Amino acid sequence: MPASCEFPHGFLWGAATSAYQIEGSTTADGRTESVWDRFCRVPGNVQDGSSGELACDHYRQFREDVGLMRDLGLGAYRFSISWNRVLPHGRGAINPKGLEFYDRLVDALLEAGIKPFATLFHWDLPQALQEQGGWVTRNSVDAFADYARAVGQRLGDRVRHWITHNEPWCVTFLGNQQGRHAPGVRDWHDALTTSHHLLLSHGAAVRALRSIDSALQIGIALNLVPAIPASPSEADREATRLFDGQFNRWFLDPLHGRGYPVDILRDYETDGRLPPHWHALVRDDDLTTIAAATDFLGINYYRREIVRSKTLSEELNSPPTVHPPPHDQLTTMGWEIHPGGMYDILERVHVDYAPQCLYVTENGASFDDLPDPAGVVRDDDRIAFLREHLRAVRRAIAAGIPLRGYFLWSLMDNFEWERGYGPRFGIVRVDYATQRRTLKQSAHWYREVIRANKLDR
Ligand code: FCB
Repeated sequence: MPASCEFPHGFLWGAATSAYQIEGSTTADGRTESVWDRFCRVPGNVQDGSSGELACDHYRQFREDVGLMRDLGLGAYRFSISWNRVLPHGRGAINPKGLEFYDRLVDALLEAGIKPFATLFHWDLPQALQEQGGWVTRNSVDAFADYARAVGQRLGDRVRHWITHNEPWCVTFLGNQQGRHAPGVRDWHDALTTSHHLLLSHGAAVRALRSIDSALQIGIALNLVPAIPASPSEADREATRLFDGQFNRWFLDPLHGRGYPVDILRDYETDGRLPPHWHALVRDDDLTTIAAATDFLGINYYRREIVRSKTLSEELNSPPTVHPPPHDQLTTMGWEIHPGGMYDILERVHVDYAPQCLYVTENGASFDDLPDPAGVVRDDDRIAFLREHLRAVRRAIAAGIPLRGYFLWSLMDNFEWERGYGPRFGIVRVDYATQRRTLKQSAHWYREVIRANKLDR
């Protein structure tokens, strides 16, 4: 590839956000509670005691935000739709005002020449559905398909790219097994049941959207974590296999028609983590539904994991699967900076699963960037992070991996779930007190990359 054309013509340069993290206006225009509104109210659940109540006030300032995106030259914008804004009871009557918000947002994006990529579910389940059992009940699958149909019918003429779920791993394990995310449940059986219903609802939503327009481009976004053993020991290699199975294969395999990974099922069954009714839960056609043909796979890549076996770590008196990298290689989330992992995971997915097309649907980093006295945010560490990860992206494209676009996380600083407003992931700084937006140096840098369609060195 000549240096002047480092990324293929038509490569989509994007940025991503999600509804609960940016919109605010949590009680406006008929919006009801989601599980996150409820979760944030429990003291201790969110580190700084905050919530998405105001967030970036994007619900009211979306036009200005789209203006920023246009200034940056974004080719695409990935946002999520708040299910409870559109269907306050989770099912049944549509709230016209809720849907109108997304209608206006989409029109504004198109007017600015930006392709909308809509995510249907970025973790904010309507509380009304949670009260009926949430993802643990099979009813959630039909509810999700109905919701997909409702928004697809309204927006599908203009939104051509749809992402069903964002990171089902997080809802499954952080939300229902570790209780660190909404709905704050700590139960292995509920978690694994949830994972099945999330995947099944993905398949049901693909079908629902296709019935509206068979030309829609539909995929799912998975957070994938390449894992390597901390040592060549048998124990560490075994621990790595389990980690990869639980984190990556549990979702990748069924989505690609292979069913749930047998080694992980066996592992879960051996110590009672598998729900006793699992085999009745996974009905005959379910695996076919889950493996519905899609048009792309979205990969959210942030970090890798170096896995050490429990036994070994207990001996060394260190945390179970974590082998801490040096401090200067961590973001403020404590995540290791490892650009090579981006290439590794793209290559692995391409070789092992061969989805017809891939997008990096999230990648980015939080740093303690502060404005200098002149108000300039010199986030050199973020620029370095993005540059190195984009090099990995470029390498993947050169190797023939069908990667069509890159969405940076995030357009702007926002509510970072259980960590509150501490971590800042944006290329645009948000002053939450005034809601002022300031382009960080990384935003200027990204604009240049987009304009030139190449990296600066
Ligand atoms: C991902 C989430 C996204 C954001 C980033 C930092 O796991 O999808 O909402 O929180 O992490």
